[in-house]
Amino acid sequence: MRRHRPTIPILGTPWSVQITDDQSRTLIDPLTGVAFHSASGGLAETKHVYLHNSGVSERLQSRQPTAVLEVGLGLGLGLLATLDAAIDYQCELRYVGIEKEWLAGEILEHLKLDDFLNKPSLAADFCSWRKSLGKEVPEGRYEREFGPLQHVTIEHTDATDWDPQDEEKFDAVYFDPFAPDVNPELWSTSFFKRMQEVLKPGGKLVTYCVNRKVRQTLSDAGFTPKRVPGPIGGKREVMVAEF
Ligand SMILES: C[S@@+](CC[C@H](N)C(=O)[O-])C[C@H]1O[C@@H](n2cnc3c(N)ncnc32)[C@H](O)[C@@H]1O
Repeated sequence: MRRHRPTIPILGTPWSVQITDDQSRTLIDPLTGVAFHSASGGLAETKHVYLHNSGVSERLQSRQPTAVLEVGLGLGLGLLATLDAAIDYQCELRYVGIEKEWLAGEILEHLKLDDFLNKPSLAADFCSWRKSLGKEVPEGRYEREFGPLQHVTIEHTDATDWDPQDEEKFDAVYFDPFAPDVNPELWSTSFFKRMQEVLKPGGKLVTYCVNRKVRQTLSDAGFTPKRVPGPIGGKREVMVAEF
């Protein structure tokens, strides 16, 4: 039986806020069912699938300078959880988030992103940064320091058009677009090859989808995909692809 999770519509948008099982909030389009995070726990998914499985948590704890590329910035949950850890451990972090529809600050405010942070002001800073750019933010590159050692770049563009320019390589890719049937352009051999080009040797691409086609596409692009256990109460298996 499908479990019911409370949702609250955000007027004037197609989105509703959904309270996930760990009490973190995400967005869902009730008409299509497309959601930004797993209903079984948005924050748990972010911490397990992205920070933990990529090795980023461990790197930050041991204060190794770390560079993360996120495909699909979404609400900024992955960004804020990573920044929070980097600031806690006083670790250098370079974070690049690619997003083609950077959500307005007025929507982000509904998500109470500060509730789970050790440094709650990060969420307000992220929201006010987004608000300062106006409702319709033009495509482009936006940069900001969130701490003395934490640099964030938002690449507001379609990821297939992203040009890494002189960007140094990354330790991890958080690969978090919508599902392959919604964003087929990104779950493709050619896009995964591009991800490989921007990863350091030994770097990891992590994602939530483990279906056979995605595993094959990752292999075709030169990754070694591995299924690993998912978060408690969430998906049984998730993906770590090594290069
Ligand atoms: C599952 S959500 C990401 C959730 C996010 N990682 C977080 O922690 O809040 C997927 C995001 O990918 C973005 N997206 C989908 N296709 C894209 C594309 N071709 N280029 C850039 N962003 C894309 C969507 O707009 C959406 O914000």
